[in-house]
Amino acid sequence: MYKKILLPLDGSERAVKALAHAVEIAQKFGAKLTLMHVVPSLPAYVNTAVDQLGHAQQTIINELTRHGQEMMEEVASSVLDKGIEIDTYTVLGQPADEILEKAKSEDYDLIVMGSRGLGEIKGYLMGSVSNRVARHASCPVLIIH
Ligand SMILES: Nc1ncnc2c1ncn2[C@@H]1O[C@H](COP(=O)(O)OP(=O)(O)OP(=O)(O)O)[C@@H](O)[C@H]1O
Ligand SMILES: [Mg+2]
Repeated sequence: MYKKILLPLDGSERAVKALAHAVEIAQKFGAKLTLMHVVPSLPAYVNTAVDQLGHAQQTIINELTRHGQEMMEEVASSVLDKGIEIDTYTVLGQPADEILEKAKSEDYDLIVMGSRGLGEIKGYLMGSVSNRVARHASCPVLIIH
């Protein structure tokens, strides 16, 4: 039933908690697991700013991308002994849109994600990314609280 599982990771504890669930399901179903990190794109006004800002922006993006890849490799290596096929994917964009697009265009069967992430605002059950993905996904979404 589940052959391709997508696990979006933002580096938060909650997202890593979702990993255990994704791994167990992947083992049971013999599924492939993809760890995905979206480097959030900067606001549009930054893109249109002068050259110097463009350089600074690129430096920030490169650094965030490197950091995201490292974070996912660390997560992947923590479950190396589980005998599941894992790959990692990093992309620049709006997190919810990129997650939805990836799941749809590559026919993922399940998205496993945290209810909240790195966002600081307390009191809400769901963050904006989990909320949007849960509402618009083309496949089932398992939200880990
Ligand atoms: N940049 C991202 N890349 C990959 N996955 C992400 C990203 N941001 C969030 N997620 C996924 O979405 C889950 C929920 O995070 P979300 O961002 O919705 O909550 P939040 O950070 O608490 O709130 P908000 O971002 O709205 O302030 C995370 O546990 C993670 O699985
Ligand atoms: Mg967030």
